[in-house]
Amino acid sequence: MISATVENTPANEPRTSGAAQQWWRDAVVYQVYVRSFLDSTGDGIGDLAGIRAGLPYLKRLGVDGIWINPFYPSPQHDHGYDVADYCGVDPVYGSLADFDHLIGDAHRLGLKCLVDIVPNHCSADHPWFRRALAEGPDSPARARFHFSDGRGESGELPPNNWHAMFGGPAWSRVVEPDGTPGQWYLHLFTPEQPDLNWRNPEVRSYFDQVLRFWLDRGVDGFRIDVAAGLFKHPALPDSDDPTVDERTRDSVNPLAWNQPEVHGIWRDWRTICEEYTARDGLDRLLVGEVSVPTAADQAAYVRPDELHQAFFFHLLTAPWQSDHFRRVITEALRDIAGTGSTITWVLNNHDQIRAVTRYAAPASTAGTDLPAGSVRARAAALLMLALPGAAYVYQGEELGLPEVMDLPDEVLTDPIFHRTGSRLRIRDGCRVPLPWSGQASPFGFTTGEATARPWLPQPDWFAEHTTERALADTGSFWHLYRDALHLRRSLPQLGDGPLRWLDSPPEVLAFVRGDGLVCAINFADQPVHAPLSDAPILASGPCPPAMLPGNTAAWWVTDQLTA
Ligand code: GLC
Repeated sequence: MISATVENTPANEPRTSGAAQQWWRDAVVYQVYVRSFLDSTGDGIGDLAGIRAGLPYLKRLGVDGIWINPFYPSPQHDHGYDVADYCGVDPVYGSLADFDHLIGDAHRLGLKCLVDIVPNHCSADHPWFRRALAEGPDSPARARFHFSDGRGESGELPPNNWHAMFGGPAWSRVVEPDGTPGQWYLHLFTPEQPDLNWRNPEVRSYFDQVLRFWLDRGVDGFRIDVAAGLFKHPALPDSDDPTVDERTRDSVNPLAWNQPEVHGIWRDWRTICEEYTARDGLDRLLVGEVSVPTAADQAAYVRPDELHQAFFFHLLTAPWQSDHFRRVITEALRDIAGTGSTITWVLNNHDQIRAVTRYAAPASTAGTDLPAGSVRARAAALLMLALPGAAYVYQGEELGLPEVMDLPDEVLTDPIFHRTGSRLRIRDGCRVPLPWSGQASPFGFTTGEATARPWLPQPDWFAEHTTERALADTGSFWHLYRDALHLRRSLPQLGDGPLRWLDSPPEVLAFVRGDGLVCAINFADQPVHAPLSDAPILASGPCPPAMLPGNTAAWWVTDQLTA
């Protein structure tokens, strides 16, 4: 029997009625890394037709929609986050017709479809940048980027001291059309990703057209890359701290990020989305990758006339400790739910070491006790799916995939690895193509005639994590996610709505949703008494009567709560 309620957090708006309206408030969206989902052509690289073939699988899992990582024409220096043409499809991933078929099928299955938009920078192969190089200093073509003369006697030093996110300086020097060493251009990521100048009205109107192009093709919204970027301090001065935090890979340079003008762009984009909604009554969604230091900073991006959502990464980066989880959840509820938006929870994505491996050693970034990591990742999933708001699930998370930690150096493609002198091996291990079936690579990843190996090698142990195996085993991660997602649909307490903390021992977080859905998670290794003596309706692992084992989460429905 539960008696004491210790803390009240601000309630979200009540769960909305009307299926189409504000569907995003408590949606669970599946992130598809197109290169690695399913390959329909046998070239070893996933593609749009592969995603289309996988839609029934996702429908069965119970997600509300998909977000597809960039599939636009690109030289692939950062796997599509270097866009050479914002209104096309890279031939390696298919064609616009394939995209139309994919979105048509998604909508027929009742799945929303979000695409990724990359406004902070384009590819050095984009026609605008090529023109900027060709037309030289002071040309209108250069004014779309941040070109500057260098410092030093002959301009041989970069214009300021900023660092790039992926290593090295944030400036590269060009050779002018007459063959002489010339100006420098700004790139906050790699030299192949020149930053656009958002104070140039041409850039603004270009992206308005890009949004409309995809909205006209039927997309339900956009995941916005680097949404705290876009504007830099207008004078591009030296920074007191130009470094990048290697652990979180957040920039601490306040001159390069989070400038106030960016909010005007999100207001404009919201207006465009609302124009489409006014035509057909369907909500479009803007979800931003907003990497800013605190939940309070993030709240400014999800004010009612800006982005609908911003990924809340603090849950993803929290170590496996109850006090850390409690703190980040409390801050999100206080700062973000207070804006009227909903919190957008994430445990995995294509930039981070997978949760199973992160939790494989307490409080570290990557451990080796994978059975423990798995048990904890299952518990974290039940916690996330019980929290108020929306959630994003990264492909393979539903299979309990650990990170592939031992990829050989020569296959690594992440620019972070190459630009940090091979020190940081971070992003390839979560991007290995998914295992679908069978006992050996390519594990059904390619449905076409296999003529090439998967673009990153799959380890033999992927055999234990195929979707085929997961579907056949009711104790699998997949069934846990599926059961949780189906309960989210059927139980009105879950999704959007209020959360109240319950009294619990320090190593346990326990809360109630709505009028009686209780979720508790035990971060310790030792069991504790469960908050309710009834059997849970769902648990991340076996629960003896009235007990909550270590590293386990469970959900109960009860009418025994006192207010
Ligand atoms: C975002 C993307 C990441 C990409 C970077 C530069 O952080 O998630 O994959 O490399 O932006 O576009």
